[in-house]
Amino acid sequence: MKIKQTLLTLSILSSAFAAQAGEVEVLHWWTAGGEAKSAAVLKQMLEQQGHTWKDFAVAGGGGESAMTVLKTRAVSGNPPSAAQIKGHDIQEWGGLGFLTSLDDVAQQNHWDDILPKMIADVMKWDGEYVAVPVNVHRVNWLWANPAVLKKAGVSVPTTLDEFFAAGDKIKAAGFIPLAHGGQPWQDATLFEAVALEVLGSDDYVKAFVDLDMDVLSGDKMVNVFTQFKKMHDYIDDNSPGRDWNVATSMVINGDAAMQIMGDWAKGEFTAAGKVPGQDYICAPAPGTANQFTYNVDSFAFFELKNAENQKAQKALAKTILSKDFQEVFNLNKGSIPVRLDMDMSKFDSCALASMDTFKKTAKQGGLVPSMAHGMSTTSYAQGAIYDVVTNFFNDKNADPKQAAQQLAKAVKAAM
Ligand code: BGC
Repeated sequence: MKIKQTLLTLSILSSAFAAQAGEVEVLHWWTAGGEAKSAAVLKQMLEQQGHTWKDFAVAGGGGESAMTVLKTRAVSGNPPSAAQIKGHDIQEWGGLGFLTSLDDVAQQNHWDDILPKMIADVMKWDGEYVAVPVNVHRVNWLWANPAVLKKAGVSVPTTLDEFFAAGDKIKAAGFIPLAHGGQPWQDATLFEAVALEVLGSDDYVKAFVDLDMDVLSGDKMVNVFTQFKKMHDYIDDNSPGRDWNVATSMVINGDAAMQIMGDWAKGEFTAAGKVPGQDYICAPAPGTANQFTYNVDSFAFFELKNAENQKAQKALAKTILSKDFQEVFNLNKGSIPVRLDMDMSKFDSCALASMDTFKKTAKQGGLVPSMAHGMSTTSYAQGAIYDVVTNFFNDKNADPKQAAQQLAKAVKAAM
């Protein structure tokens, strides 16, 4: 009798569970070591709730390939449940009518209270949440191998001039000064770090947020290109096409001294079991100690027809902003939690420095959106900047003055 009752209860429970279980198909480009580990956390937490995770990973740092694939799928009327879409792109997808409102989940879980307003605003289309932020990446970081620096007799450069001086010594000592992958988004990431030091935060914003023609074509921008060009002397000949995580591994292995890259690079050091301050150093990109270039990863949610899948979608949205997920995910990813009410005791010195600078620059100025990572302007203007920057960087004879003029022209055409 007792057994029968238990079986009955179990079958009622499991059918209730099955009725709620749905599938989420999630498009992302997190395929490098630290990234994949981070994505796996989300999959696992969703599956623990009885739902199914259909992985839709499209490799390619910075997400250009992922965005191309997403467009094809969405246009054919078969979008995934959620896709890694950031910044201005959220508004573009919202405007096209593809996204679904998450306001019920947002209200139940007090998203307006737990998120910085600046970030919450970007997640909304027409006043309603259509996307959920995952983290805050700082892009203007320099990653260094202390053993290589020591062998070359240099310390961590804090200005561009120091960087070039250290680079010469590192080269003379037989190492590659700067690990870099010659791909447009990596060129743009390096370019914006140089631009931040040379322009300063105000002119950086004028150039890449306001798209101010005078700043884009002006003397300071000419100097940005001049300094950026010098960077090329410190990169090895095998850089074209190299993935960012391969560049990071060159620093990890001691083939190269430094990499200028967002803190997803830390995910690679962490996955390799390396400890900051001991095996590697994180420092602000030269000359940008009091600035913070932010890059917020987020998932936008598409309109679905199937009721069970809609439920799974909402469970995913809720999970992303849970404290448990925020902690484990960001420990693996190298970023800091997007919730500011988190216990940070498990985070390392790089993450604590990042959080500190994030808060400080938000109050005192110096917090700027990343152009290279889709935070500062539309994908059209960003694409125009990428083209000019990459063509310039790959042409030995390119002229900085002409490049600044081309930059303004290209951006204007994309406005
Ligand atoms: C994303 C990161 C990612 C990096 C490299 C950036 O645009 O925001 O999450 O790790 O690209 O793929």
